[in-house]
Amino acid sequence: MIGVKKKCIGLIFGGESNEHEVSISSAKTVFKAFNSEINKKRFTIKFFYINKNGDWLDGDLSEKILIGEIKNDSTKKQGKFKKDKINFLDGIEFQNVDVWFPLLHGFNGEDGSIHGLLRFTNKPMVGCGILGSAIGMDKILMRTIFSNLKLPQVNFLVFQNEDFKEKEVQNKIINEILKKLNFPIFVKPSNSGSSLGISKVKNESEILKALEKAREIDSRILVEEGLEVREIECGIIGNSKLLTSEIGEVNYESDWYDFNSKYYSNNQITIPAEIDSKITKEIKEIAIQSCKALNIFGFARVDFFLEKSSNKILLNEINTIPGFTKNSMFPMLWKASGLNIEQLVAKLVDISLDL
Ligand SMILES: Nc1ncnc2c1ncn2[C@@H]1O[C@H](COP(=O)(O)OP(=O)(O)O)[C@@H](O)[C@H]1O
Ligand SMILES: [Mg+2]
Repeated sequence: MIGVKKKCIGLIFGGESNEHEVSISSAKTVFKAFNSEINKKRFTIKFFYINKNGDWLDGDLSEKILIGEIKNDSTKKQGKFKKDKINFLDGIEFQNVDVWFPLLHGFNGEDGSIHGLLRFTNKPMVGCGILGSAIGMDKILMRTIFSNLKLPQVNFLVFQNEDFKEKEVQNKIINEILKKLNFPIFVKPSNSGSSLGISKVKNESEILKALEKAREIDSRILVEEGLEVREIECGIIGNSKLLTSEIGEVNYESDWYDFNSKYYSNNQITIPAEIDSKITKEIKEIAIQSCKALNIFGFARVDFFLEKSSNKILLNEINTIPGFTKNSMFPMLWKASGLNIEQLVAKLVDISLDL
């Protein structure tokens, strides 16, 4: 590697999102992987931390937050770029970064906003662009496109531009749900992640509370028929040619895969999932097809349900900035597919450079 200039990776994490802490955990894993002996020969890292208010911190402070030297709610003014100033990004050292690695889960990041900002730097980035990110984050648009392509998914209803506080609107929504979907149902904000804002509703009396909870996050709401399912996930990497990882299954003790079971419990993960090889093949094909449909490339995790009673495959969602926490499936899937975390992060950079 002597004589080859090291690539500077701009690691962006934190973010003005309800998945702020998850992002920090993901960034810790990714930083450690870049900081490994093998990767240190090829890469250097610049740190870009965005706090919960949306203010950016300089490289030094950002690094300290990532390695746990200072707290992420530090009130120190120096080195902080407050977002309420028109030129608030003036002091941020965007220059010298060769490849961006945005690890901002959820809104103000994964939804395409960070990709839009970074596009102005004319530097490549890990992951897909504005369009795929925005659609991947929006459950309503994602499901609508999957419907158009006749990709298998649960029955769902969309409620948007409604005044959920009006009694008449509430009655209309409840009647439509009762007419078209069977209980249990899942009520979800269109834009969110990590199961935040989602409720599993078992009967009519719980519907309004669930709508209100989802409404706190997004005024566009998706309501789905809830099925008894196995949860199956597949990793994707690549550009025009997308590669699939092994298929994994997650088993948890709670009733459904809520925030706590995602991050605070010992789930049982099985890779490769114990499923029929024909179904595995079909899942991989649908994973690629769905990413292509939404213009998603670079990396992604495609989540599926396998209905327990029928073994029917149902496409759930695509995560365009998959988690890298210690409980996260994406790095585990690739490890089982022959790429350990150090190789995976290097590969993602190579993909972004189209190497
Ligand atoms: N239609 C459904 N049927 C059964 N379980 C569901 C359904 N929708 C969501 N869930 C449960 O809720 C979890 C989170 O839902 P999901 O739509 O994947 O949201 P998020 O983007 O926050 O991960 C799923 O992993 C699953 O456990
Ligand atoms: Mg999910």
